[in-house]
Amino acid sequence: MSEKKQQVTRRQFLNYTLTGLGGFMAAGMLAPMVRMAIDPVLQESGAGDMANVGLAVEDITNEPQRVDWTITQVDGWYESEVTKSAWVFVNENDEIQAFSPICTHLGCVVSWEGSEEYPDQFFCPCHNGRYYKDGTNVPGTPPTAPLSVYEHSVENGMLYLGQPIPRGEA
Ligand code: FES
Repeated sequence: MSEKKQQVTRRQFLNYTLTGLGGFMAAGMLAPMVRMAIDPVLQESGAGDMANVGLAVEDITNEPQRVDWTITQVDGWYESEVTKSAWVFVNENDEIQAFSPICTHLGCVVSWEGSEEYPDQFFCPCHNGRYYKDGTNVPGTPPTAPLSVYEHSVENGMLYLGQPIPRGEA
């Protein structure tokens, strides 16, 4: 049996070389595009982060006070400054409470004692929605759920707030 010599023709050599070179160049061009497309997905989300809202714990009283703070929100490639708010006070059990001011009816902003008619309640001016001091919606008013509660922590005497957690329908 004679050994068959494997010969690569000039045409085959050129084909292999050009195909390899083309593939290498295509991979070089596509890699940054793929990375750019999926990079935001790979980034760690800051959603669970707690923010220092600039309020010392010693300044929190049993009277709800409105606190505003700004966070940097990253949405894919878009970065923006977002202002957040909370109503903060200490309840009768000496626990810090931080409520979202967003009305659970249709999303207007509620105020503590926003109506002279209803002292000691949160009031939503859009449709006269009301909430008791503990954030529970007053039956018979438009909201069907209590105000959401911010997760909170205390570090070095300062209040940190995270995300508002809905409390479900009541
Ligand atoms: S949005 Fe608050 S009562 Fe309707």
